[in-house]
Amino acid sequence: MEKFKVKFYPDNKAIEVKNDTTILSAAISCGVYINSVCGGDGVCGKCKVIVRNGTVITQPNGAISLEEKRQHIYLACLTTIHSDAEIEVLPESRLDFEKLSTQEFYTKSEEIEPAAPSLKEGVFAHSPLATKEYLELPPPSLEDNISDLERLYRQLGRLHKDYTATQMGLANIKQLGELLRDSDWKVTATLGKRNETTEIVLLESGNTSAKNFGMCFDIGTTTISGQLVDLKNKKVLGTKAVYNKQASFGSDVITRIIYANEEDGLEKLHNAVTDTMNEMIKELITEHKIDLNNVTCVLCTGNTTMVHLLLSVDPTFIRREPYVPTANFVPTIRAAEAGININPRGLLSCVPGVSSYVGGDTTSGILSCGLYKEEELGILIDIGTNGEIALGNKDFLVACAASAGPAFEGSGVTCGVRASRGAIQKVKISSGDFKVTYNTIGDAKPRGICGSGYIDLIAGMLSVGLIDKSGKLKAESSKRVRDSSENGREFVVAFKDETETGSDIVITEADIENLKRAKAAIYSATAILVKHMNLDFSAINKIFIAGGFGTSVDIDSAVKIGLLPNLERSKFVFIGNSALAGTRQMLLSYEATRKADEIARKITYFELSVDPGYMDEYMAALFFPHTDIKRWAM
Ligand code: FES
Repeated sequence: MEKFKVKFYPDNKAIEVKNDTTILSAAISCGVYINSVCGGDGVCGKCKVIVRNGTVITQPNGAISLEEKRQHIYLACLTTIHSDAEIEVLPESRLDFEKLSTQEFYTKSEEIEPAAPSLKEGVFAHSPLATKEYLELPPPSLEDNISDLERLYRQLGRLHKDYTATQMGLANIKQLGELLRDSDWKVTATLGKRNETTEIVLLESGNTSAKNFGMCFDIGTTTISGQLVDLKNKKVLGTKAVYNKQASFGSDVITRIIYANEEDGLEKLHNAVTDTMNEMIKELITEHKIDLNNVTCVLCTGNTTMVHLLLSVDPTFIRREPYVPTANFVPTIRAAEAGININPRGLLSCVPGVSSYVGGDTTSGILSCGLYKEEELGILIDIGTNGEIALGNKDFLVACAASAGPAFEGSGVTCGVRASRGAIQKVKISSGDFKVTYNTIGDAKPRGICGSGYIDLIAGMLSVGLIDKSGKLKAESSKRVRDSSENGREFVVAFKDETETGSDIVITEADIENLKRAKAAIYSATAILVKHMNLDFSAINKIFIAGGFGTSVDIDSAVKIGLLPNLERSKFVFIGNSALAGTRQMLLSYEATRKADEIARKITYFELSVDPGYMDEYMAALFFPHTDIKRWAM
């Protein structure tokens, strides 16, 4: 079979492919990740590339304008390769396009650092997943002639009684004799908590105890956030958030599970997530001049499917009745076994999940906001592609999951971006002339709209009568309201001369529909969970709102569009990425890890789809704010 050489820019990666291969699958095969919200179905229009050279055949579609055709722009998923070719992935189609600098993200996350009690310093004892101990061993003599290994254990036991049940693998034992003598009996032992035992993960010559670092990750369906932490002094050295490269295979967990069943599908999905994480680790250690060997452990959280794919465990049974995952409580393993590049003997631990659709990210979130120890009732709503809701207090915890889609994370909407520099995060519209005022993250020129911006925008459009309760744009005569070819009508938020991209930033009726479905999924899941426990919202003392959709969500706007119930404003607490915050606590404290284990075992999973009222509740929430308007009266 004839093969063609294809080169991708700007990655400069090349691959040989068979005739008739799609550009999207050629790109994935050589590690070039293209935004592909619809998983290659040709409907999202996000996978645009320019074919610089070569013969390709494409299928007709409405996502490519005449002007784009002239510029040789194609949809990667609908275009096949029929000669050697050179292909450029457009910036907005690249999944690494929106990397945040450490400074920007961390400054923002500090602003939203949760006020929840468990996040205060010192709540859990400082005892990281991996610690380093400097040891000066007495050299052996005829009188003190115990073996090298016993000598090492004896010295550790003298330092701390917890170290009496220590284990060590054969690889370290093999090099022990020579290492101790070459180091003049002065070594540093890295001790890892490996399930219920302590393991000597690593032995180094001399005193390296000041250099001990760990990574924590929140692996979201759309976004992966990670932090590099100094395990010695608990300092967060850097934070990154990037798109999960698995987005090349579709936007939700179900599409990914289906893909995992295709030939090499599981391996490709696994490689996509580990590539994303390894790049983040590499960038962070380079920025902070840290040797990879001094990164000794990684702690990950994520929904159950994300954790299965990270570990390359087949997720098939997650979506097959009776919806049982392979593992909720995954034992600590070597990071290298999962393809994560840190010290080759470093450890990887995953936060325990609850069920197929309520994962470790809910456990971490509950740990972080302290819901598990509250006297009064509270709700945690984590707004993500896979939205998770937990209700309870110190006596009980119940949780469910809602498939919200990635719209609030800036994906699958025309001008959506994550909450990063240049994202429109607050919007006001004046009545009459529909003049728009907005502010952006970092006060930069706008380049798109993030979740909090969309919430404000829809609330503003409702207030000035630009849209009706179903989200349809009214026929107003304004230069900002116009017809858009495929997506119904649209409203211009920022004209091209104001924007960084040089294109108008708009919200279309199709975007509003997407956002409406996302908010309906979250609200109806919350309402059904509350009802399932024979409660109503008035019994709730606090609502913790988590997610990476913006740092400054306006509660009034979120209530106005029907994303949140109309409760006293003081009951709402925005806690940012609580899954990452909880995971960081576990990385730094074994006590927190034990608590997370307890929380995961305590949560009762509630399957929304079996509730006879769920569909009606969801349909009723497909209006702004809801069909039952009485619920929004204070
Ligand atoms: Fe190509 Fe959606 S249109 S991936």
